[in-house]
Amino acid sequence: MKPLLATLRGWRQPVPPVWLMRQAGRYLPEYRALRAEKGGFLALATDPEAAAEVTVQPIRRFGFDGAILFSDILMVPAALGQTLTFGVGEGPALSPPLVDHALETLTANPGFLDPVYETVRRVAAALPAETTFLGFAGSPWTVATYMVAGRGSRDQSETRRFAYADPVRFAAIVDAIVESTVAYLSAQIEAGVEAVQLFDSWAGSLAPAQFERWVIAPNAAIVSALHARYPHVPVIGFPKGAGGKLPAYARETGVDAVGVDETVDPHWAATHLPADMPVQGNLDPLALIAGRETLESAVSNVLEAFADRPHIFNLGHGILQDTPIAHVERLLALVRSAR
Ligand code: CP3
Repeated sequence: MKPLLATLRGWRQPVPPVWLMRQAGRYLPEYRALRAEKGGFLALATDPEAAAEVTVQPIRRFGFDGAILFSDILMVPAALGQTLTFGVGEGPALSPPLVDHALETLTANPGFLDPVYETVRRVAAALPAETTFLGFAGSPWTVATYMVAGRGSRDQSETRRFAYADPVRFAAIVDAIVESTVAYLSAQIEAGVEAVQLFDSWAGSLAPAQFERWVIAPNAAIVSALHARYPHVPVIGFPKGAGGKLPAYARETGVDAVGVDETVDPHWAATHLPADMPVQGNLDPLALIAGRETLESAVSNVLEAFADRPHIFNLGHGILQDTPIAHVERLLALVRSAR
């Protein structure tokens, strides 16, 4: 079986499979060239031929064990009826923001996602036999922070206030995201992805009771719906910033594997996460930029911590734009020659 898929099913590999979050993107010159040609991120993400090419670029260059679909977590809000734009140097925007516009005023546009499924079919046909194909979506809490505020924010304060002030209306938004995420991931699976990841980039901003309600519960709903339909498709949960709440997340959501960010000591994670659960992570993206001995010792620390369980080598968060290509090559050599 493909090494990454086997690991996700719970079989430890002698050499851990590797892929990097955000591996298809701006640190690659071939990505920047294609994006310039297509005129921007959204034009690229909704053009199946180009998006398939971008998905495969890092596989061709580095031979990662996993390919991640080139798309974005904010495609779901666009399918729910918000207008998605990526201004140059500004980050994404969604309008109208739900902080002052009712969800019911939006007109859903599920067809917005059709090009993504076509991208999946093309990539599935193009990948090497040993490469696992990963689909993804954002987790409801993280997606809701963008839908409510209409943009990214430093501490998600608007959305946290909204969730306290009007939990009924906020729950309706989260429920709509859950439903549309299940449909979105199901269609990705039908089109050819072999495992899926739920990105919860802002899971770290919630107090414990809110974390239970807005992170654990909606992710558990998504996982159980997917497992009922596709029992053989592993789900990776990545609650960035969850820290001490990671073990509860791992036990209570039903995810098959858990992603760990770089702020967590991998030895602590190895001890506190369920014994046989596959773990993904957690090299500091800045150690990858630093290179040299910093990179070497950080890589061996992660490898050593997770040596006794199924482990997928990855960063603790997305690869940064100024990461030297040579450091990515060095990382792969270090991981693959370690045992
Ligand atoms: O991992 C991959 O290579 C696959 C594609 C992917 C993208 N975004 C492409 C992208 C994935 C998995 C994402 C996830 C995503 N998108 C998250 C969760 C993970 C994380 O990084 O926390 C979030 C919060 C978003 C929302 C988003 N998309 C933001 C905040 C931004 C702007 C900031 C940035 O990194 O540029 C994006 C744009 C985006 N999504 C780019 C890419 C390659 C950059 C667009 C460009 O080319 O300029």
